[in-house]
Amino acid sequence: MQMELQLTPQAYKAVEQEFDVRRGYAKQLIEARRVFQRRAQMKAEALGEAGFIKFAALSGSECPDLCARIREELDGGTDRTLALEILARVFTPEIDREIISYFGSEYAPIEAGFFETRPDEPVEATDAWHCGAGPSRFLRVMVCLTGSAKDGPATLFCERPITAPLKEAGYVYCQLENRVVDLNSLTDALGLERAVVVEMDVEPGDTIIFDSPGILHRRLLPKHEPRYVMAATLIPTMISWRQVTDAGVLPLPPGTGFPPLPGFAEEG
Ligand SMILES: [Fe+2]
Repeated sequence: MQMELQLTPQAYKAVEQEFDVRRGYAKQLIEARRVFQRRAQMKAEALGEAGFIKFAALSGSECPDLCARIREELDGGTDRTLALEILARVFTPEIDREIISYFGSEYAPIEAGFFETRPDEPVEATDAWHCGAGPSRFLRVMVCLTGSAKDGPATLFCERPITAPLKEAGYVYCQLENRVVDLNSLTDALGLERAVVVEMDVEPGDTIIFDSPGILHRRLLPKHEPRYVMAATLIPTMISWRQVTDAGVLPLPPGTGFPPLPGFAEEG
């Protein structure tokens, strides 16, 4: 059966206009790159190429305790100290090099939070294929505190080549009701090659960092048990993440999105 498509070609341009231009994120990226002092440490590696990396950030044996702490946090907001402790473990010298190579600059968490995902949750728009809406360059960090052995992977990724044609066709940043779970029906209808989907299995303590605006992905609900994750969003900054977070404003609570940067249009 032919799919009925109601896509606005190049819908991504409106998203660029909103976040990069109106809210100031493109200017911040340029300025962050201009003042960057650690260019010699950059290396063009996996994150920039594939759009996602996975590594063991925490040991599996410490995850049950962290899950218990997170369960206590869920109603009372994010424990900022715990979030920063975990991020400090994620940003090893090797991972730091991956991140600075992606941005070409220093970086900091604009938001961070802890999440419980239950098997019986209603399906949401993030469960269909999408790219993260926001500035052209940002990263999502997912510190997985439960593994995928019994409950399946949390996120599916598409290999990068499919993102550009689906941005041009207007699938990326389309209306939520036009998002699809079956990507083959979409690429077939658009006359594009079928995308290669990567299912990333994780052990407790594994961390995934991915180019959310640059790579199509979708969430999968856990099959049996609740899943626990600490997630953070990284943006380019002029000073190091330690200096940014020591100033006490970032990271913002989860779900804040990308507010206008100082000196740029207020929302509304
Ligand atoms: Fe997403």
